[in-house]
Amino acid sequence: AAPLNPAVLPLDWLLGTWESDEPGEGSFPTIPPFRYTETLHFTHVGQPVINFMFNAYHAESKKPLHRECGFIRIQPGTNRVAFIIAQNSGLVEIEEGELTAQQLTLQSHALARTSFAREPHVQQISRVFQLRADGRLEQTVCMATGDQPLTQHLHITYRRAS
Ligand code: HEM
Repeated sequence: AAPLNPAVLPLDWLLGTWESDEPGEGSFPTIPPFRYTETLHFTHVGQPVINFMFNAYHAESKKPLHRECGFIRIQPGTNRVAFIIAQNSGLVEIEEGELTAQQLTLQSHALARTSFAREPHVQQISRVFQLRADGRLEQTVCMATGDQPLTQHLHITYRRAS
């Protein structure tokens, strides 16, 4: 395997596979609350880039639901981080933000969707990844849609599977 590119060394704590330890909580003012499980894979091939894949399932029925994949880059010489993301719902986005210690705080900078994407359309996304002192990874996602202001949609914690 290629050695980790030094450009992404500050993100080495993400690498590997993470599984939700208990079901995550989904919510939004317009939908019934739901529970989901999710597996995250962060890999690299020696480029100054981290590759990722997130696969979520309904906690009770185990049906595959939301999926996203993409790339993470760091602006050289800074703590500025960009996520380049494609979602199975037909949404693509660029999220940018900062890496401070073992926390990533991201805001959507560009969103685009298929011409026939379902409404309501997402207008803004903010998310936080944090490696906690107990070794768990935590993700919180908020979104704004055409009819709702920025409100939490997802909260989940993962434990390292490999
Ligand atoms: C609903 C966006 C991640 C599960 C929705 C809605 C939007 C949305 C716009 C419709 C809200 C409304 O009707 O007012 C997103 C975005 C995500 C994301 C932008 C990632 C950044 C996830 C994940 C799951 C999930 C990881 C986990 C399974 C659901 C469910 C609903 C929903 C079950 C309600 C039923 C439905 O509309 O399909 N999401 N979502 N979402 N989301 Fe997400």
